[in-house]
Amino acid sequence: MAHMALRKKGFKFVTFSIKQKKILTWWTKPTYDSKGNILTKGSPHHEKDAIIADGAVRSGKTVIMSLSFVLWAMSEYNGSNFGMAGKTIGSFKRNVWFWLKLMLIGRGYSIRKMPDLDSNHAYIISKGDVENYFYIFGGKDEKSQDLVQGFTAAGFFFDEVTLMPQSFVNQCVARCSEEGSKLWFNCNPDGPFHWFKLEWIDCLKEKNAIRIHFMLEDNPSLSEKKIAQYKRSFRGIFYERFILGLWVIAEGVIYSMFGNHMVIDKLPPGVRILKKWIGVDYGQSNATVFLLIGQGSDDKLYIMDEYYHEGRSEQIQKSPSKYAKDFKKWLIENGVDGIPVRHEYTFIDPSAKGFMLQLHEEGIRQIRQADNEVLKGIELVSSIIDNDMLRIFRKCKNTIKEFSAYRWDPKAQEKGEDKPIKQFDHAMDALRYVVNGTRMTWQRIIAAMSNAA
Ligand SMILES: Nc1ncnc2c1ncn2[C@@H]1O[C@H](COP(=O)(O)OP(=O)(O)OP(=O)(O)O)[C@@H](O)[C@H]1O
Ligand SMILES: [Mg+2]
Repeated sequence: MAHMALRKKGFKFVTFSIKQKKILTWWTKPTYDSKGNILTKGSPHHEKDAIIADGAVRSGKTVIMSLSFVLWAMSEYNGSNFGMAGKTIGSFKRNVWFWLKLMLIGRGYSIRKMPDLDSNHAYIISKGDVENYFYIFGGKDEKSQDLVQGFTAAGFFFDEVTLMPQSFVNQCVARCSEEGSKLWFNCNPDGPFHWFKLEWIDCLKEKNAIRIHFMLEDNPSLSEKKIAQYKRSFRGIFYERFILGLWVIAEGVIYSMFGNHMVIDKLPPGVRILKKWIGVDYGQSNATVFLLIGQGSDDKLYIMDEYYHEGRSEQIQKSPSKYAKDFKKWLIENGVDGIPVRHEYTFIDPSAKGFMLQLHEEGIRQIRQADNEVLKGIELVSSIIDNDMLRIFRKCKNTIKEFSAYRWDPKAQEKGEDKPIKQFDHAMDALRYVVNGTRMTWQRIIAAMSNAA
């Protein structure tokens, strides 16, 4: 966002890339003078019903598509409804609407809230004699899904369409009944069996759609340094998808870059641990894991100790209060002279509410409900491993085993979903919780590495 040169009212574009220009103009019809002579050629694609922009992150898809959508709506219709959707209404307002509003105001449009509506998410955009109505929906907001029914529109814009349920998108598409209506989609790639890939990207002819594939280089505002930084932030399938813009399958071992050189017996000479955190994955019939994780003065992530109790195989099922006592004991084992180890936060499996309370009763403080966004966590852990920033003490035997056992689920892939197999994933979950909870730290380190490179 820092790249968007913000003026008082509006923002300044740097010259559009060729692909951005294509998005901006694909709908323009030829124009003629009174004698029928052609004045402007228009776009060869203006009779298409849909446009898809997919590809790399930060490649300049959203900003240009959202603007083009409104410019099209305002030049083709008057008094019509339009839908705009994000993963949630909140994310749409933050990522798209905020900037779109600035761009429109800068171009002389006025925007006001729809007065007679109990929703905060409907706007009237006008210029001269033309006004149209724009409704914001969230694909994952249940209420939005209901509201879409009974709505008629002349066009729909979907930002990050792969993050929305297919049922929602189908609903919206079915609402576009006005003559000449058009659909606008953008997204980053997902797996090759994702519904959007199968039903839209692979069916451009049937859908009468054009597709424009974006790479980082298609965003004219990105410096080489920034491009290098993005390239360094993603690894493995995430690199292929988010940097190369490919719809590749997530298969096999998730942390394939994990290697023996990351297993250590003691801290390297001169390295201190600056901060410590704890990750907890709690299970009654499954394993319960506590991981002690540190940030080294060498900017590496150290997995320093594990507590691992397999609920099933060890026969003895422990009660939550027994686990809470074990937790306290384990803190002391990792501390000095009977004083529990000093740490910042304990990030706990968000579903383990009962255990959180139990810990609280035992006097444990600084507890955080962990952010359990699986892919986001895996992405960052992959990048930490790949930038050679992970070390683990040999005594964390179960965690080391899990690093090579943690795999993508092929059954979920066939359904177009990226999910790890839910087996041997307990320490991996605990690690994700800490990394998601401290992500700024690691992202900053990774960014600094690419600046130095
Ligand atoms: N022509 C341009 N002039 C100035 N800034 C631009 C231009 N094109 C894109 N940007 C800026 O680059 C950044 C990324 O653009 P945008 O959000 O459209 O990318 P995206 O492809 O949608 O990314 P993601 O896949 O991560 O959603 C934004 O801050 C945007 O304002
Ligand atoms: Mg975007």
